Amino acid sequence: MIQVKSLLNPGESAKTSVIRKSVDEIFFESSPKKSFASASEREAFKFKYLDWYSQNLPQYFLVALGEKSEVLGYVCGVADTRRHEDLAGLHPWFEIFEDCYPQFPAHLHINCAESARGRSIGSTLLAVFESCLRSDGVAGVHLVTSPDARNVGFYDKNGYKFTKTMNWKDSKLLLMGKSL
Ligand SMILES: CC(C)(COP(=O)(O)OP(=O)(O)OC[C@H]1O[C@@H](n2cnc3c(N)ncnc32)[C@H](O)[C@@H]1OP(=O)(O)O)[C@@H](O)C(=O)NCCC(=O)NCCS
Repeated sequence: MIQVKSLLNPGESAKTSVIRKSVDEIFFESSPKKSFASASEREAFKFKYLDWYSQNLPQYFLVALGEKSEVLGYVCGVADTRRHEDLAGLHPWFEIFEDCYPQFPAHLHINCAESARGRSIGSTLLAVFESCLRSDGVAGVHLVTSPDARNVGFYDKNGYKFTKTMNWKDSKLLLMGKSL
């Protein structure tokens, strides 16, 4: 049995500081970027994908907790990408998908602990995140990944049927969207 909690209200048995430490570990374990020139570069990287979200929108930062309140995965995001200029400053590629945001305004980032993958925990996290957005009247949600990433199948099976691929620098980025 897993429980999904937001960082705003993680429950009595789980300490926020312990949860945050585990989330950091899952983030770095899941990230394709493994080496950093300095500790500050590593911190800045974490801020872009994790700390900005926990600091600004803890209500949309959800964690999946196991039997012993251990963190199995997390999802974080925003309800409307267009409302956060500071975040767009951190991610200059936001602008290449600008025409998709009216239909799919929200965006998300998700990762599960390596030892917890393939057990539907990611799908459960998506379902709860989408339901929070729906309750807040959000029309659609998207994420951005790489067209050849294994996770494309995961989003597709969870209903992210809209796709748009764009060139960005030397690589390709894939936006996948779902109406809510
Ligand atoms: C993608 C991810 C969040 C899915 O959560 P999950 O709980 O493993 O997913 P579910 O059990 O609900 O669904 C299984 C599907 O997830 C995907 N998946 C499973 N393990 C995966 C892995 N190690 N890496 C990427 N995708 C994976 C596959 O599409 C899988 O379907 P398949 O077994 O038919 O290939 C999770 O696997 C993960 O954190 N992967 C690595 C990091 C990542 O890709 N994050 C998303 C960045 S955009």
